[in-house]
Amino acid sequence: MEKTFLMIKPDGVQRGLIGEIVSRLERKGLQLVAAKFMVVTRELAEIHYGEHKGKVFYEPLLAFITSGPVFAMVWQGDNVIALSRALIGKTDALDAAPGTIRSDFAVHTNFNLIHGSDSAENATREMGIFFAPEEIVEYEHTI
Ligand code: CMP
Repeated sequence: MEKTFLMIKPDGVQRGLIGEIVSRLERKGLQLVAAKFMVVTRELAEIHYGEHKGKVFYEPLLAFITSGPVFAMVWQGDNVIALSRALIGKTDALDAAPGTIRSDFAVHTNFNLIHGSDSAENATREMGIFFAPEEIVEYEHTI
């Protein structure tokens, strides 16, 4: 079954939105298979956001993502990458469709509450950065 890496960023944690966001993903029917409440180190952030190195928002992004705890997760389900990104909404809250997480709760691109892998390749890469294989529980909902 397809898996993806999702991470509630420091703004989502500090605003008390972990439960709301997890609840939306659960209600959709996606399955949580790993979760970790943690502080992202500068080293981890550089690996995770390596593709953005050199962009104007790179340093502010690293400063933000390391500024407080995040809630890192792995979810699974058919088409979970596309489905979770649809629930999250576009990167810029101004472009995010009504009813999406970013439309409903975010104002600014820099503080957009949650990260979601954008491809199968990045999902595998990002899960590997944040989780050891044995930390991802192997199971499928039976109901
Ligand atoms: P995320 O999905 O975590 O991936 C990269 C992050 O960079 C993005 O969410 C935004 O929080 C942040 N960011 C800031 N400015 C931009 C921008 N102009 N384009 C894309 N991402 C941006």
